[in-house]
Amino acid sequence: MPLICIASPKGGVGKTSIAANLAHALARTGRQVLAMDLDPQNALRLHFGIPLEDGAGFLAALPQRPDWREAARHVAPGLRLLPHGMVDLHQALALDAALERDPELLATPLASMLAEPGLLVIADLPPGPSRALAALVPQAALVLVALLADGGSVAQLPALRSGRFLGNGTLGSLLAARLRVVVNEVEAASHLACEVARAMADTLGQRLIGAIARDPAMAEALACQTLLAEYAPGCRAAEDIATIARILDRALPAPVATAPAPPTLAALWGANWSAAP
Ligand SMILES: Nc1ncnc2c1ncn2[C@@H]1O[C@H](COP(=O)(O)OP(=O)(O)OP(=O)(O)O)[C@@H](O)[C@H]1O
Ligand SMILES: [Mg+2]
Repeated sequence: MPLICIASPKGGVGKTSIAANLAHALARTGRQVLAMDLDPQNALRLHFGIPLEDGAGFLAALPQRPDWREAARHVAPGLRLLPHGMVDLHQALALDAALERDPELLATPLASMLAEPGLLVIADLPPGPSRALAALVPQAALVLVALLADGGSVAQLPALRSGRFLGNGTLGSLLAARLRVVVNEVEAASHLACEVARAMADTLGQRLIGAIARDPAMAEALACQTLLAEYAPGCRAAEDIATIARILDRALPAPVATAPAPPTLAALWGANWSAAP
């Protein structure tokens, strides 16, 4: 049911890596998760081993009104993926125009995803403002913003604190309450990183929910087209992502309990199984 948007005013800050690995970490807590790629770069699939030449996807096919359940790939236990699909420049612009003309193209399947009991949707957004971000934010339980521990990220803090990144005026300030921030690629030994983290904590307070270490395993896992917890379980960044997943898990409604499996005959008869008629 809940939707988490992974977004940022900045590009190249780890949104897609965080979306993929958080989706995996949350599925490992027992949730049913749908990871949805809304970025025409179509990169989320690469974390799940989908071959480069496999260009099929959901968002790219929206004008044909695809069934999201049929487009979803099972990529790990409890985890389905909706790749964006491969698009060229003109297709990306045409898709944007189609979404502007008919916002229901995305709103209708999104409503169906959010109506599925117990399903957690994690959406990977393109950098900066986008039509997809504007369409999803009103439905989002949380917008998780990724930043780096650098001066450029500090410059974005006023727009995040006021909610301007998500909208204007009253709408922006209402939506700002759903905003959470993680700072990525942190080097604990760096004086700059410590100062930036302090500035972020001062400005954002409780909205700053975690930090992820700069860890070569993150880039290596992507190069191997696999998830961090499978490539380097227990590495520093994997632990940081697991911690953030636990924080989000606690902030979200509890997963829907699945019906217990009916007892087997052996369990019913217990030790007398062999003597049963
Ligand atoms: N914690 C980290 N430590 C080291 N490298 C990282 C870390 N997080 C992400 N990276 C690397 O940084 C690069 C950019 O990451 P990613 O593609 O996830 O960013 P993005 O914000 O989604 O980019 P874009 O704005 O283009 O969509 C990738 O090579 C990724 O492997
Ligand atoms: Mg990305």
